[in-house]
Amino acid sequence: MKTNWGVYVHIPFCKRKCDYCDFVSFVNNGDTVTEYIKALALEINYRMPKTIEKYGKPATLYIGGGTPSLLAIKEIDKIFSVMGKYTNIADFEEITIEANPESVTREKLTFYKNLGVNRVSFGAQSFNDNILKRIGRLHTAKEAVNAVTLAKEVGFDNVSLDLMYALPGEALTDLQSNIETAAKLEPEHISAYCLTLEEGTPLYKKCNAGEVVLPTEESESAMYDLAVTMLPKLGFQRYEISNFAKQGKHSRHNMLYWTDATYLGVGLSAASYIENERFKNVNDLTEYIVNPIMSRIKEERNASDGEFEYIFLALRTVKGLNKNHYATKYGVEFKKRYKKSLAKLTSARLMIEDDEYFRLTERGFKVSNEVFGEFIGANE
Ligand SMILES: C[S@@+](CC[C@H](N)C(=O)[O-])C[C@H]1O[C@@H](n2cnc3c(N)ncnc32)[C@H](O)[C@@H]1O
Ligand code: SF4
Repeated sequence: MKTNWGVYVHIPFCKRKCDYCDFVSFVNNGDTVTEYIKALALEINYRMPKTIEKYGKPATLYIGGGTPSLLAIKEIDKIFSVMGKYTNIADFEEITIEANPESVTREKLTFYKNLGVNRVSFGAQSFNDNILKRIGRLHTAKEAVNAVTLAKEVGFDNVSLDLMYALPGEALTDLQSNIETAAKLEPEHISAYCLTLEEGTPLYKKCNAGEVVLPTEESESAMYDLAVTMLPKLGFQRYEISNFAKQGKHSRHNMLYWTDATYLGVGLSAASYIENERFKNVNDLTEYIVNPIMSRIKEERNASDGEFEYIFLALRTVKGLNKNHYATKYGVEFKKRYKKSLAKLTSARLMIEDDEYFRLTERGFKVSNEVFGEFIGANE
């Protein structure tokens, strides 16, 4: 039987760190990047054959970061040629690369296309130059527009845009015009993330010092409502809490994360999920470069940690939690196990049930953290 599984490759380099970002990425010189690509190749050589032997050829490849588009063409080429030793690149159903507007060129995009990349995900965040500056982005709105146009010209028919909202000084009308601008560019996919103010980031410090002001809770809530109603009207159907796509253009790779599928993560800090176990590569760049093969650590967790994770990930999707899948995996009906919680959540119209699935309603999505909280401790 063919297993639907995917590979994630992490590129932990950025030209400059954005003020809000807590992802594992560093500003580095060329030598470190070269060393890193060598280490990455070693890890791919070590893990890919073993994983393919178990699960067959992977369906998806996702090159994320950091800023993968910052790499030189020869470095991306190296990753693909190592990967190509174990699977035919053309056999991947979906290959995504994350790109930042200021670091893509026609040459790079053409190269990605020729390599077999069939999906580009741009971090646009906002189309308001003042806001972009305020959050420490390196590009202007115009550069983001140009990057998307270029990707289309080069022949990509699966382009995604990341947008963020509830950014410092942002008004509801700013978000409205951001979404309008994004839709005019005719991407196939839009991710809309509410800003998470990560402790320790420069933005966190600026907020505490009163140098920038975030929208109020009411305003953030209005922005959420605007995004989730406006995007479907523009033809982007929601398929996950923060993800919206044109018909058939959902991210196949990201769907693996939410549907209990296997994935192998290679590179600094990359996560893997294999046979119900979670693994995480180290966050220390030097340690990874010195020994990329020994860099993976198994996460210690008990049975209920795994089960809650399964439930929360499934309920992030619009389709919801598949009752048969759950029952087969855990040997008990979801409905029986969480009888009280489900009765409470369905009567409050935060969740609904059909023949195959339990899912969150629109109201449920808006308060998803509270809904998820209902399950914790409920099965003891
Ligand atoms: C893994 S990041 C890397 C993408 C790419 N380097 C970029 O910045 O354009 C993917 C997305 O996560 C979102 N993101 C990053 N930090 C965030 C935060 N603190 N709160 C909400 N969304 C965030 C941004 O929309 C970003 O494009
Ligand atoms: S470019 Fe992307 S990954 Fe890099 S710091 Fe900014 S948000 Fe984070």
